Amino acid sequence: MRKIVSLLLPFGMIFALAACGQSAASEKQEEIQSAVQKTDEQSETPQNGAAVEQTEIEMGTEPPESVSTEEQEADVSTKTLVVYFSCTGTTELVAEYITEILGADSYQIVAEDPYTEADLAYYTNGRADQEQNDPNVRPAISSGVENMDEYDTIILGYPIWHGQAPRIISTFLESYDFFGKTIVPFCTSHSSGIGSSASNLHALCSESVEWRDGKRFESGVSKESVQKWIEEIGIE
Ligand SMILES: Cc1cc2nc3c(=O)[nH]c(=O)nc-3n(C[C@H](O)[C@H](O)[C@H](O)COP(=O)(O)O)c2cc1C
Repeated sequence: MRKIVSLLLPFGMIFALAACGQSAASEKQEEIQSAVQKTDEQSETPQNGAAVEQTEIEMGTEPPESVSTEEQEADVSTKTLVVYFSCTGTTELVAEYITEILGADSYQIVAEDPYTEADLAYYTNGRADQEQNDPNVRPAISSGVENMDEYDTIILGYPIWHGQAPRIISTFLESYDFFGKTIVPFCTSHSSGIGSSASNLHALCSESVEWRDGKRFESGVSKESVQKWIEEIGIE
């Protein structure tokens, strides 16, 4: 009998261990199944938003924040304002071309005290001559741009007065915060180039302004020529 027991004992132990292992495995299996079921239930009926979010984060399936199409477009679109000063219409015509080509908004700088013909007669020591001789003069502007914050790009046009921009352009530039904006200068003249007239304006604005190279147009320039320039500088 003793012999039989000693012979059967190892088989009994092996059986008992196997049974034990199987029940542990099936317990584990049950645990996993119930966890998966819980996750399924939560995602089907999300009664607890935080729990769903937690599960998504753990599983690395958190959905990206949704951004509407309009928001995406607003992120990439830029808005341009064409600003100009013109006393005899030459700069105004170029500004109108630019405004039409770009479908942009425009703003005319108008002096609070309008310039008369006598004021504009140059080399007579008239009003315009005197203003250009004094870099500190700031002729007043009659009305302003209320929504300057909306614009990313300013295209700024002026006539050349004694090789420089009229002092009223300085008034304009000192009246707003152009932080982070792009300014594209252009001018018209009898014969002078844009010269230092544009670069001398840089010091009037924040250093964060991106100044683009300026362009001089002659009186009677065609709309096609203006369009070519717009395409060259890549403003939309
Ligand atoms: C006070 C004054 C100074 C001027 N100085 C120059 C000059 O230095 N060089 C030049 O080529 N034209 C000069 N002009 C001519 C203007 O630049 C030119 O006529 C311009 O196109 C006028 O633009 P608007 O019609 O938009 O006012 C001057 C005009 C004025 C009134």
